Amino acid sequence: MNEEQRKQQAQINQVDNVERIKSASSDDMIAKYFQTSYEQQSPDIKKARKRRNEDVQFHYDFSIPEDVANIGKGKKFLIRTYGCQMNEHDTEVMAGILTEMGYESTSITDEADIILLNTCAIRENAENKVFGEIGHLKPLKLENPDLIIGVCGCMSQEESVVDRILKKHQHIDLIFGTHNIHRLPQLVKEAMFGKEMIVEVWSKEGDVIENLPKVRKGKIKAWVNIMYGCDKFCTYCIVPMTRGKERSRRPEDIIQEVRHLVAQGYQEVTLLGQNVNAYGKDFEDLEYGLGDLMNAIHKIDIPRVRFTTSHPRDFDDRLIEVLAQGGNLLDHIHLPVQSGSSEILKKMNRKYTREEYLELVQKIRKAMPNTTLTTDIIVGFPNETEEQFEETMTLMEEVGFEAAYTYIYSPREGTPAARKKDDIPEEVKKQRLYRLNDLVNKQSAESMKTYDGKTVKVLVEGESKKDPDVLAGYTERNKLVNFKGPKSSIGKIVEVKITEAKTWSLNGIMVESTVEVN
Ligand code: 5AD
Ligand code: SF4
Repeated sequence: MNEEQRKQQAQINQVDNVERIKSASSDDMIAKYFQTSYEQQSPDIKKARKRRNEDVQFHYDFSIPEDVANIGKGKKFLIRTYGCQMNEHDTEVMAGILTEMGYESTSITDEADIILLNTCAIRENAENKVFGEIGHLKPLKLENPDLIIGVCGCMSQEESVVDRILKKHQHIDLIFGTHNIHRLPQLVKEAMFGKEMIVEVWSKEGDVIENLPKVRKGKIKAWVNIMYGCDKFCTYCIVPMTRGKERSRRPEDIIQEVRHLVAQGYQEVTLLGQNVNAYGKDFEDLEYGLGDLMNAIHKIDIPRVRFTTSHPRDFDDRLIEVLAQGGNLLDHIHLPVQSGSSEILKKMNRKYTREEYLELVQKIRKAMPNTTLTTDIIVGFPNETEEQFEETMTLMEEVGFEAAYTYIYSPREGTPAARKKDDIPEEVKKQRLYRLNDLVNKQSAESMKTYDGKTVKVLVEGESKKDPDVLAGYTERNKLVNFKGPKSSIGKIVEVKITEAKTWSLNGIMVESTVEVN
């Protein structure tokens, strides 16, 4: 290790901004934890907004410390993942780290020596699920005291969650935050040999650590992080507090990762970020945005490239121009709108109006007439009126979204919207969600019908979940297709003739001559 590398390693290991305790079950220890970490760790929008100009370091020298390199030999790990693709990809990193420590993966809870819950904080029901699971694991821990149970992911960045686990769930051995994943080897060792609960949650976002090992879930499609964090501060959203400020990976590192995936035979990459359209805005030495990155990846020999999630505000002309080249840049854009009412959008701090969103859609459609548009929508934002909700319904129709993820607003502690008094009864919100979902289903079914009798290109992912005799995969425009075909087509792009359109999927028959199409 040279001097520079040693310095970087020291930075990775530094714990001066770390809220880290070993908590015993006594109230004294819990009180100590509150004093050391509560203030810094609480989701605090004012503090979070000030963070933008702080330096981010890039590290390329992650390694598993020698003293833990074989700690998992003969042992098994299980990671339960909740929430978004970012979490799924973090799970692949944690699986990579644990594998390098000698652990083997298992999907059987009783077999596991270490269980990690990679959690999601976006809505209350996501958190309730995790607390349910924490409760279910208690008898297992009582039966097997050597079992290590860890809680990580977005929930662990929330003070109230850490507090509740410390007070009520002493069978948890380890809590670590989204900026502490690279510290997993040391944390597992401490949890293994210590008698107390280990809590390590860095409130300040971490640096970018490049060479973390990964065990990817599949061999056909891969996630590629292009940036971390979010600086948009939508007033309902906890993510800027749980995931930290925007930090873009260097283009050369991303391109190298994609090239590597091509060499390993991957057919599709999805570029990941909470707000990918802000990619590169944090570079001080480089004028380089998502359009430039997509243009570079367009030239790489990988059949399919997707990206998620977009923010309409930063969706610029350069990106549209690049996407319009088509080829491996697929005809599907997920463009969360959240609401069709300009007044609600303002209260959400989305920084665009209904009209501006529609203008952007028109621009996209002009450049890419075949593009499928999908979206995210929140109903029942505090004090949303019937008229404002109706505007969401009309926008849904006007844009012709082919699918939408729809949610009832869930107040998140520490966010500005959660402080608002809300006069809309829960039942009214539920009714709005049902009405919206009826419309979403109708539009999805209509879009599916347009494929009846047509032939589409499908990347075959494997057997269908419901029937092993049926294969399943996605079209370029992200439609799920179930079809009969030879198993030899798994991992390939084949042509399928659609014979039946359902609400959320298509059925078809493979065009035999296309099995070698790639
Ligand atoms: N309540 C409901 N839905 C939310 N989302 C984000 N925060 C909340 C919240 N507090 C939704 C948004 C976002 C998606 C990932 O989750 O629609 O785009
Ligand atoms: Fe949350 Fe997305 Fe808004 Fe960022 S852009 S605050 S992740 S909804």
